[in-house]
Amino acid sequence: MRATAIQTLAAAYREGVVAPCAANELADHIWPFADKVAFHQGDITKRTVEVDAIVNAANNSLLGGGGVDGAIHRAAGPKLLEECRGLNGCETGQAKTTKGYDLPAKHVIHTVGPVYSASKSDESARLLRSAYRTSLDQAVRHGVKSIAFPSISTGVYGYPFESACIEALSEVGHFLDQKGQGDKIDKVIFCCFSQPDLTRYRQAATRVFPPEDMHSQFAEDE
Ligand code: AR6
Repeated sequence: MRATAIQTLAAAYREGVVAPCAANELADHIWPFADKVAFHQGDITKRTVEVDAIVNAANNSLLGGGGVDGAIHRAAGPKLLEECRGLNGCETGQAKTTKGYDLPAKHVIHTVGPVYSASKSDESARLLRSAYRTSLDQAVRHGVKSIAFPSISTGVYGYPFESACIEALSEVGHFLDQKGQGDKIDKVIFCCFSQPDLTRYRQAATRVFPPEDMHSQFAEDE
């Protein structure tokens, strides 16, 4: 399956694969971009995810690690690490771009999500949103039209999955809404490693990116 075949959320609504959430479950901010977001279950390094850039959930050193970071370095080959050595690391919430080398994607955007802290959940959310936003900034800067994100911080870094989904989706919605920025991005794929994660991610997405008719309904109610 090619990424062009990865179904957008708008198509998933149309084809009845995904049911809209109830009106009282909508997130505080909703965005009309169901036609730009898509969800995929699988390994982000594989050719099935055909995008201009994939995002790496890295650490501050940018010198590799486990999880998706390890998978990306393995698939890209040693030249990726070589280029990363010249980047002098990356602060939490920031992002830096390299080539993709042996990966199908032309670029890898390395970002560092927060290590989740329950006692500092607002700060964790701020940094997680920043990781998504700065990754998208990098994408626009490098002429990237399609981008795939793993679920940043939800593995080793311990961010509760559902909350991370909502933060990720709303930040992406906010970015896509920005003129001269978001309109330069055609497609954002959220790549989930497991089927249960895909189900949970899509569910969260119905709260942030409802179908078009719910937008008009919402506007009329206001
Ligand atoms: N493709 C897509 N998603 C994946 C893949 C893959 N190949 N492998 C794992 N995931 P994690 P973090 C999912 O731990 O929490 C590294 O050691 C995984 O199921 O990779 O941001 C870095 O060097 C989870 O949902 O990243 C850092 O030290 C998500 O990717 C640290 O881990 C993120 O899990 C970063 O931790």
